Amino acid sequence: NWESKISVNIDCYPEGDEDQAKCEARGCLWEPLSNPQCYYAENHGYITSNKVETASGITVEIDRNTEFPSQRSRSRDINKLQVDITYLSGRSLRWKIFDPNNARYEVPIHLDLPATPETDETKREYRVQINNQPFGIQVIRKESNEIIWDSAVPGFTFSDQLLQISTILPSDYVYGFGETEHPTYKHDLNYQKYGLFAKDQPPGYKLNSYGVHPFYMGLEKSKSAHGVLLLNSNAMGELNVYMIGRPVLPAYWSLGFQLCRYGYANDTEIADLYRDMKAAQIPYDVQYADIDYMERQMDFTLDQVNFKELPALVDQMRAEGMRFIFILDPAIAGNETKGSYPAFDTGIEKDIFIKWPSEFSSDIVWGKVWPDYPNVTVNNSLDWDTQVELFRAFAAFPDFFKSSTAEWWGEQIKDFYNNIMKFDGLWIDMNEPASFVHGTVGENCLGNKDLENPPYMPPLESKLRGLKHKTLCMNSEQILASGTRVKHYDVHNLYGWSHTKPTYDALLSTTGKRGVVVSRSTYPSSGRWAGHWLGDNYSTWDQLLMSIIGMCLVVLGKISITGADICGFFNAAENEMCLRWMQLGAFYPFSRNHNTINMPRQDPVAWGPEFAAMSRDVLNIRYTLLPYLYTLMYEAHVHGNTVVRPLLHEFVTDEKTWDIDRQFLWGPALLITPALDPGVTVVRGYVPNVRWYDYHTVTVGVQGQFLDMDTPLKKINLHVRAGHILPWQKPENNTHYSRLNPLGLIVALNDEGVAHGSLFWDDGEGIGEFCLCVCVCVGMGIMRN
Ligand code: NOJ
Repeated sequence: NWESKISVNIDCYPEGDEDQAKCEARGCLWEPLSNPQCYYAENHGYITSNKVETASGITVEIDRNTEFPSQRSRSRDINKLQVDITYLSGRSLRWKIFDPNNARYEVPIHLDLPATPETDETKREYRVQINNQPFGIQVIRKESNEIIWDSAVPGFTFSDQLLQISTILPSDYVYGFGETEHPTYKHDLNYQKYGLFAKDQPPGYKLNSYGVHPFYMGLEKSKSAHGVLLLNSNAMGELNVYMIGRPVLPAYWSLGFQLCRYGYANDTEIADLYRDMKAAQIPYDVQYADIDYMERQMDFTLDQVNFKELPALVDQMRAEGMRFIFILDPAIAGNETKGSYPAFDTGIEKDIFIKWPSEFSSDIVWGKVWPDYPNVTVNNSLDWDTQVELFRAFAAFPDFFKSSTAEWWGEQIKDFYNNIMKFDGLWIDMNEPASFVHGTVGENCLGNKDLENPPYMPPLESKLRGLKHKTLCMNSEQILASGTRVKHYDVHNLYGWSHTKPTYDALLSTTGKRGVVVSRSTYPSSGRWAGHWLGDNYSTWDQLLMSIIGMCLVVLGKISITGADICGFFNAAENEMCLRWMQLGAFYPFSRNHNTINMPRQDPVAWGPEFAAMSRDVLNIRYTLLPYLYTLMYEAHVHGNTVVRPLLHEFVTDEKTWDIDRQFLWGPALLITPALDPGVTVVRGYVPNVRWYDYHTVTVGVQGQFLDMDTPLKKINLHVRAGHILPWQKPENNTHYSRLNPLGLIVALNDEGVAHGSLFWDDGEGIGEFCLCVCVCVGMGIMRN
């Protein structure tokens, strides 16, 4: 019953350095040693002053309860607000809370909202109630009468730089809020704080890193689920995620295995690797080149000394069915001799780089990134900041919101393809945006310093150095496609997002094929154009589990193509860990082994024949099942389904699945139970309560139970769900050849002797014809053992 309110204390001092005087100065209540000890009084917040209901929604005017002092001295509370609630469809609604008297920045993302609201009350699965004091919105699922959103609690704050909204959850099962490292997929809800701010930050316990996904999924006691997207400054709820667009359909080959490293010394090293992989017959489709291929790490150039033969190698490998992906960073070298570096010269001509607001300066906001960065190993006696200070090159950051920038970027990509080297996909990195100096060269951010240090900061990585740490000054100016001038502060989390579509469009128009783009920084809807890998992880055992949790968070942001650097990026990998990681990574949608400079090799042929053979075996399973994976990608693209799925997405009525994050599914029908710890020969996994066939032996075992599964070094446990049909194809060295083989179907009959499934098939990379086969099989009898 929604009227019987749970009593909650909402933290009034999340900064954590409260005392009684500070607490009371905020008009809050002090109760030492309780948690929280400083909390809001019952009617602290806003009061409803006017409410108008129509068939399509509710409009509410609210006033701040001025009995209580303004929350933060530096950030003015706004006393009068308007709330617009729209019944978008029978299953989704949106609300927007805003200052009706002053236009504020709004997230410039186009949402695919339904054309007309659902005005028929009987067709809506929810109803909405407004609580008057304190003001709050309650969304109730009609079927179960559960309140799934309830912000009728004290403490709602709406000020210049601080927004605070609290809700009572219908259960303590909440998932989401990437991209921060979570120790478990299900959130621990005991007064935990996570910061969401895009950052060049390797995943680490609870740290904010590359992307921002302000979305969560909540489970309800009645075993239904809902999703909420908080779109930046405007609190916005919705019960469906389709509004942020459906994921791109990548090229078939991009589902093949991929090899990369930072620090290939020269083209011969790549040629040798390719030769050895071929000899070992390990399936592999994509070879990368990291910033090493560039002349002094400058985009759109080629190192003519060490990588002179790379274009010829690329041509040769492509002729043998392989594909190539190059890295591109957003930062462009800014102090080359005029006339010698077209990317910068044309960027200046077209005025595409981020500058200061004109009242402060007409200059570019200079940073330092990889361009012309001296090889770190030369000077490794110096600390990082000193090295950065010594190196001379400055870099400028394109403002990808401007359409002229997108055009310029597209031209650079096309010229590179036509004049330097061919490629099939693009990898965009460092687009948080990352800079090696803090804010700008000299670290002096012009303008209002409050922007670097908002009145409340969650525990962000390097919070003490302000928001400019390792990125641009918050006061840098960006210009939206509409022409509106905004501060980098407003659009920081969208830098990678804004970089992605221009890159995808350029790839498409340059190659005429779908290819694939992989981006480091993402925001909800980035998946329309790109995949995302989980960044600079470590070669440690705990990262295997973290990668499953990370992928499950990324898919909530509607990005289908995802995975972690197999065998880990930083530090030397260890044999058994790398092997188990090859097995797990064979089931990442984005399956790439990548590591950093100056580390020992960790590709599958680096470890000797036994390792190579076990890698080949597991990748052969991946390649066998690629038609199924590709069909899942198609379904994600058309219907918005997830490709990798936590078990609870399929079995939400089975509460045992709600805590599971050491296993995952491909679509509805393939259960993956990897070994994640050293020395294990048995792995414990849950088998939900339907019939499952062991992939390796085709036997049927017990179900609805946790099982101890044998996992000798050469084996990963896989189960196929009864009632499903999975298309497959005989594997070959790469998908160019495997796609020439006949296709087959795995028909896993259920207890009634029935199975269904589909196959999506096309030329794998074009934008033209395709076929979708839907299969239903009815069996003659069922074998049991
Ligand atoms: C950072 C990326 O996360 C990493 O994958 C890449 O190797 C380096 N930049 C060098 O480009």
